[in-house]
Amino acid sequence: ILIVWQLCNYYYYSFIIMSTYLVAGAGGFIGGHLVKSLMSQGHNVICADVKPLQYWFQLFDENKNYSFDLKEYENCLKATKGVDYIYNMACNMGGMGFIENNKAECMLSVLINTNLLRACLINKVKKYFFSSSACVYNAKKQKEVFIPGLKEEDAYPAEPEDGYGWEKLFSERMCRHFTEDFGLETRVIRYHNVYGPMGTYDGGREKAPAALCRKIILAKMNKSNSIDVWGDGEQTRSFMFIDDCLEGTQKIFNSKLTDVYNLGSDEQVSINQMISILEEISNFKVEKKYQLDKPKGVRGRSSNNDLVKKILNWSYKIRLKDGLKMTYDWMKIEIDKHGSNISRFTKS
Ligand code: GDD
Repeated sequence: ILIVWQLCNYYYYSFIIMSTYLVAGAGGFIGGHLVKSLMSQGHNVICADVKPLQYWFQLFDENKNYSFDLKEYENCLKATKGVDYIYNMACNMGGMGFIENNKAECMLSVLINTNLLRACLINKVKKYFFSSSACVYNAKKQKEVFIPGLKEEDAYPAEPEDGYGWEKLFSERMCRHFTEDFGLETRVIRYHNVYGPMGTYDGGREKAPAALCRKIILAKMNKSNSIDVWGDGEQTRSFMFIDDCLEGTQKIFNSKLTDVYNLGSDEQVSINQMISILEEISNFKVEKKYQLDKPKGVRGRSSNNDLVKKILNWSYKIRLKDGLKMTYDWMKIEIDKHGSNISRFTKS
C-alpha cells in the first residue's frame, strides 16, 4: 500500500511539475511576479514580452525568455508551442497619464489577445487567462467621489474608459466566444489598480501609488516641501497589493469559475488620503500643488469583491498602509541606487 501511495504521489507531483505555462507580458510588473510564483511551485515557465530583456522587471535565465511582439501571430504560435496554460498579462498600458494620451496604442493590444487565442486552438492549450481591468466599468457609475464598490454587472450598458477600457471589454468578450464556439477554457479577471515593488515608478506610465511614493521620496531627498498632485486630490480609488493579486489570480485560474470577476480591495481612499499615509510612512510633510489640467480619469472607483469572496473565500489581506510601506521602502533603495532621474524600468 505504501509503495502504491508513493507512486501516486510521484505521478501527481510529476504531473504538476510537467505543466508548462506561458506568461505573456513576463517582463512587466504583474507578469514578472507571476513568473517567480509559478517557478516556486515547480512549474516550467515560458516567458514572452515585447521589451528588450534588459528592461524586464524580473528575468530568470533558467526559463525560455522570448523578447518579441505578441501582436504578431507567428510569434504567438512560437510562444504557445508545447504550452499547457497561458496567463496573458501583456498589453501596452500605464496609469492615467499614459492611457489618456495613447488610446490607439492601447487598443492595438487587442492583437495580442486575438492572436494568442487563435494560437491556443492550433497548439491545443488547455486554459487561457486574460487580465482585464476596472477600466471596463461604465463611466456614468463613477461620477461621485465615494461610490459603492463596482459589481461585475456594472460594466453594462457599455461606456468604458475610452481606448484602453474598450479594448479590455472587447477582449473579455472574445474570450467568452472562444469558450462558447471552440470549447477553449478561459478565465478573466478585472484588476483594480495593482501596485507594489518591482513596477514602473517613472517615465510616464506609473500609476498613482508609485508616482506619489516617488514624488515624496524625491521631495524628502531634495529637501523640497511640495509635490505636484494631479486633479484636486479628492478623487478616489481602491488599490490592490501585488501579493493579493497573485494569490487571487491563481485561485480563480485553478478553479472552475468561468465568468468574469473583480479582483481588488474595497479600501477606497482619496488621493489626498493616500498622500497622508505616505507622509506617515516617510515621516515627512508635503504641501500639495494641485494640477487640475492633468489626466484624472473617473471621479471615484472601488471594487466589490462579494462574488469571489462568496465562491472562493478570497479576500485581499494587505492593507493599503502596509502595501505602500513595502512599495516605498523598495523604491527608496532603487532611487538611492540608480539616482533620481533615471530608472532602468522606464522603457515600455
Ligand atoms: N498616475 C498618476 N500620477 N496619477 C495621479 C498623480 C500622479 O502623479 N497624482 C494624482 N493622480 C491621480 C490621477 O489623476 C487619478 O485620478 C488617480 O490618481 C489614479 O490614477 P492612476 O493610478 O494613474 O490610474 P487609474 O486608477 O485611474 O487607472 C489605473 O488603474 C486601472 C485599474 O484600476 C490605470 O493604470 C488603468 O490602466 C488601470 O486599468
